[in-house]
Amino acid sequence: MAVAKPWGCPPLQNVPILGEQYTSREFFDHEWSSMWTKVWLLMGRSSEMQDPGSYQVEEVGPESFIMIRQADSSIRAFYNVCQHRGSRLIFNKEGTTDKIVCPYHGWEWASDGSLEYVQDPEDFKEGNPCDDLTLVEVNCEVFAGFIWINMNPECMSLREYLGPVWEEFEAYESEDWIRGPSSTVDVNCNWKVPQDNSCESYHLPAVHPQGLKWIEHSYKYCQFSWCEEGHNRMSIPMVTPSRSLEGEELEVDQQLEEMLEPWGLKAEEFKGRELETRQSVQSVKRELGGKYGYQFDQLFDDQLTDAYHYNIFPNVTISFAGAEYIGLQRMRPHRRDPERHYYDNFMYLSRGATTRLGITEPEERRFFKYGTELMNRQIADQDLAISTGQQLGLASRGYRGVRLAGQEGRVQRFHDVLEEYLDGSRS
Ligand code: FES
Ligand SMILES: [Fe+2]
Repeated sequence: MAVAKPWGCPPLQNVPILGEQYTSREFFDHEWSSMWTKVWLLMGRSSEMQDPGSYQVEEVGPESFIMIRQADSSIRAFYNVCQHRGSRLIFNKEGTTDKIVCPYHGWEWASDGSLEYVQDPEDFKEGNPCDDLTLVEVNCEVFAGFIWINMNPECMSLREYLGPVWEEFEAYESEDWIRGPSSTVDVNCNWKVPQDNSCESYHLPAVHPQGLKWIEHSYKYCQFSWCEEGHNRMSIPMVTPSRSLEGEELEVDQQLEEMLEPWGLKAEEFKGRELETRQSVQSVKRELGGKYGYQFDQLFDDQLTDAYHYNIFPNVTISFAGAEYIGLQRMRPHRRDPERHYYDNFMYLSRGATTRLGITEPEERRFFKYGTELMNRQIADQDLAISTGQQLGLASRGYRGVRLAGQEGRVQRFHDVLEEYLDGSRS
């Protein structure tokens, strides 16, 4: 089969999508208690933590989590909080340590969460705290090279949670893909604003006009679907001159030419048969991919050229672009401000791409406040620029709620699923 099959698309519930859902502290608190604390969250990257004691720390809302490699090479995750008087334990984003030392009174925690040293243990009337205290652990699984956690002790398995996403991600064999340019931006808008944005391609002509000539962006050529588990998917044909640009002649423009070149194809070969570029690239990639270190064996033909774009509920968007790299956006809510969030924009390069480019080490992740720097990822920078402006409008008394096009159905589905967590019917 040349294409991945569509998902089930349960009927939309059309819950209202109103401005206050992006601005109200009450709604934000409800999301925290009824949704964030119940779902699987993509948090870290396993291949970036090779040795026992290597760790990554990530915040989501008011919580911070330590993910740490164990002596038996498994990974466990703990709330980043000392059980003496509640100090946060680690303030770095990543590192390697043989013990976690609390900065306040120097208690020492082992990587398995046990307490190994306290000062003056004889002075505790309940007995030595090392005998009964441990760090508080959360569920942790590793899948597709990412570390996922769930705060709900009664949660379903990650595999069950991901539903059809699981098998489709497995096919890309992306466990050892290496982090490319990556940024975390502190942005003044609700976390749902960019997630909504990533659930539709209706904005492409207005916001990303630079890419239209090699993407078949019209909804008529895209496939949209969503699954019972709450995630959704869109595929967009790429590496083709677009038939969606009215009144323009089909041409292999310079950007498209640059996509043909690495595979030994020339623009002039396609004179008069411009619409064959996509299939030709698929064939050459199928034939030569293995030679360059790519892993295409389990992929459908269209995955070798197209964007397969997944919104994993609640806050992750992953695009596989022609099976060459992953563009990943993750929106993490601020501790207490509904009109602020942390926008992570990561790239992971496939084995074929890193071999070709000679990359062996992950790139440094940058952290900055929106407006002070650019991510230097044009599409993501354009999306964030729109998001901050939209937040201002969502806070207006003059805004009456959404009017969605059919092709924005994934936005509605995202809010329908969120509402099911909020009203308790899903958890
Ligand atoms: S709060 Fe951690 S040792 Fe006191
Ligand atoms: Fe966009």
